[in-house]
Amino acid sequence: MSHLFSPFILKHTTFKNRIVVSPMCQYSSVDGFANDWHLVHLGTRAVGGAGLVITEAAAVSPEGRITPDDLGIWKDEHVDFLKRITTFIELQGSVPGIQLAHAGRKASHSSAWKGGKALVNSAEAWQTLAPSNIPYAPTDPLPKEMTIAEIKQCIIDFEKAAQRSIDAGFKVIEIHGAHGYLINEFLSPLSNKRTDEYGGSFENRIRLLLEIVDVTKKIIGNNILLFVRISATDWVDGGWTLEDSIKLCTILKSVSVDLIDCSTGGNSRNQQIPVGPLYQVSFSEKIKKECSIATGAVGIITTAEQAESILKNEQADLIFLAREFLRNPYFPLNAAKALGDDIAWPNQYDRAK
Ligand SMILES: Cc1cc2nc3c(=O)[nH]c(=O)nc-3n(C[C@H](O)[C@H](O)[C@H](O)COP(=O)(O)O)c2cc1C
Repeated sequence: MSHLFSPFILKHTTFKNRIVVSPMCQYSSVDGFANDWHLVHLGTRAVGGAGLVITEAAAVSPEGRITPDDLGIWKDEHVDFLKRITTFIELQGSVPGIQLAHAGRKASHSSAWKGGKALVNSAEAWQTLAPSNIPYAPTDPLPKEMTIAEIKQCIIDFEKAAQRSIDAGFKVIEIHGAHGYLINEFLSPLSNKRTDEYGGSFENRIRLLLEIVDVTKKIIGNNILLFVRISATDWVDGGWTLEDSIKLCTILKSVSVDLIDCSTGGNSRNQQIPVGPLYQVSFSEKIKKECSIATGAVGIITTAEQAESILKNEQADLIFLAREFLRNPYFPLNAAKALGDDIAWPNQYDRAK
């Protein structure tokens, strides 16, 4: 059996293989509700054999959406349809996960295929929130510096979203701390210029994330797994660094976070990213080794052989794929063939094996 198709056990959860559908915004919701698109999109990738299927960023509050079309989990009414999705994913032998997110200063944008720009002079626009009133792009409307009361409310929003995630049947919760969204904005000295207990020192900048982790852990206990996606570097001088990530992940390990999903960038327009195959794998490797915590590698991993070598070299425990899964929802079924593994196909598709 290859490394890619060997099961992975974290606490009480067994993943049948190491392949994860990485969170991918679908911009296909109305008022935050999941619908048939999400069922078919996520369901197809479970049919395709992924070990873990994670939803796109689900906003914990309406103002935490990137766009008006984002998935959300800010009200109890959102739970029912999500439950239908988790049930289907589990029936395929896959584990359902959800990414909980607040977009911070990158909220109030139009969806990718409607321009992907900050909403200006639009009835759909809303006031964005951030650690400091520094816009991501100079042309973006100014975000509002969050008051302490707004920070506390945001933590409560994550807590309630975690409860709804359990009610909806998710077995993995991933907190989105990457890509320049709210939590990442607090972590990075480039976007956090606060002078209170949520800004300034490293300890203060990580406080929001730790408080969100704390309330989430209290809700989910040991039965649901907690992942955190981070941007392991800002790719900017004077920004958040890999050394910061190692310090942070050592603390996250000590508070029983189960896995770090290692992405990078997204918080500064000055970032210089050497994009190419496997370009973020070294971050996963470093964090896994230095912090003794399970990690996921992500970023231009497109072949079974690449995924297998990352696992063989102990650079990650899970392999997150995004765009490859859009091209090929049956990636795992084909990857097994490529690696010489005989895995079960859905009964309905067995004649095509
Ligand atoms: C259409 C699309 C939507 C995405 N939405 C999210 C998201 O909701 N949350 C997130 O953390 N990353 C998101 N990402 C980033 C992916 O999860 C992944 O980290 C990135 O695409 C690199 O992986 P890849 O090279 O396999 O595509 C998105 C990527 C794509 C292509």
